[in-house]
Amino acid sequence: MIVWVTGASSGLGLHTAEALRAAGHRVIAGARSFATERVENGNAYLPLDVTDPASAEAFATRARALAGSPEALVQCAGVLVLGSCEHTPLEEYRRVMETNFLGMVRMNQLVLPLMRERGGGRIVMFSSINGLLGVPFQSAYTAAKHAVEGYAECLQMEAQAFGVQVCLVEPGDHRSGSSRYRAKVEGMAGTPYADAYRQTIAVIHHDETHGSDPAALGRKVAKALSRRHMPTRLRIASPDQHLAVWLHDLLPGGLNGAILRDYYFNEKKARAYAGEG
Ligand SMILES: NC(=O)c1ccc[n+]([C@@H]2O[C@H](COP(=O)([O-])OP(=O)(O)OC[C@H]3O[C@@H](n4cnc5c(N)ncnc54)[C@H](OP(=O)(O)O)[C@@H]3O)[C@@H](O)[C@H]2O)c1
Repeated sequence: MIVWVTGASSGLGLHTAEALRAAGHRVIAGARSFATERVENGNAYLPLDVTDPASAEAFATRARALAGSPEALVQCAGVLVLGSCEHTPLEEYRRVMETNFLGMVRMNQLVLPLMRERGGGRIVMFSSINGLLGVPFQSAYTAAKHAVEGYAECLQMEAQAFGVQVCLVEPGDHRSGSSRYRAKVEGMAGTPYADAYRQTIAVIHHDETHGSDPAALGRKVAKALSRRHMPTRLRIASPDQHLAVWLHDLLPGGLNGAILRDYYFNEKKARAYAGEG
């Protein structure tokens, strides 16, 4: 299959692109840090900024010239910002929405006509457990991933008639993400949220650094992409993260919020994890 992969320079996108190549697919990988074009054994690395219409167009044009129309698009590009709802600047919300949500919409609009023309295709969008439940101090990211979840359900229904399958990947914590893409709102230490924020950051950092194997996730995504019928949702998470989603859907909101606050606003854990970086 000819597969375009966005956000393929780091983390889960990098591992997914590697697994796809290992499975014999021809991968056209895109990211901003692929500053110049590189082609190796039919696979390509092209510059791509999903927030920039000209860059996305240029990527699509070059990718088609190199390998023809895509049979699949795997969208991994994403950024995160950590800060309170009160202090996260609107500009940061915009940046995260532009990358994590509108960037996906943009890339889908580029491939959908091509997939319709060839009578079908596959679109895989990286959401997150945060696309299903909220987590303190990750509101921009959580809002963007919730947008992706709702959008993908609409797309699934619309595109099915044209043979285009859509799959949402919902990872839990994986040991992959680069701190480069986890911006922190400045000055949180001087706000009334300081303790809760510090505790939450320690827990988030711990959970990610002790998270699941990113290479295994890449292989699962590659396997799902090769199935005759892709799943509409592929949740790749630890048992307690599965449980958190299940409880979120089952429990009253107040109780669910209390459980999550207890989990994140926890001085004992924050002290134990202090030193982890
Ligand atoms: N890691 C986890 O535990 C986890 C959990 C749940 C969901 N996810 C999701 O999985 C995906 C990958 O996350 P990650 O944490 O593994 O990776 P990461 O290390 O944070 O890498 C982010 C990737 O996105 C790319 N990117 C950022 N802005 C971009 C833009 N404007 N245009 C094109 N590419 C852009 C980056 O490449 P350049 O900077 O080179 O452009 C990089 O390849 C994201 O969608 C994330 O939300 C990750």
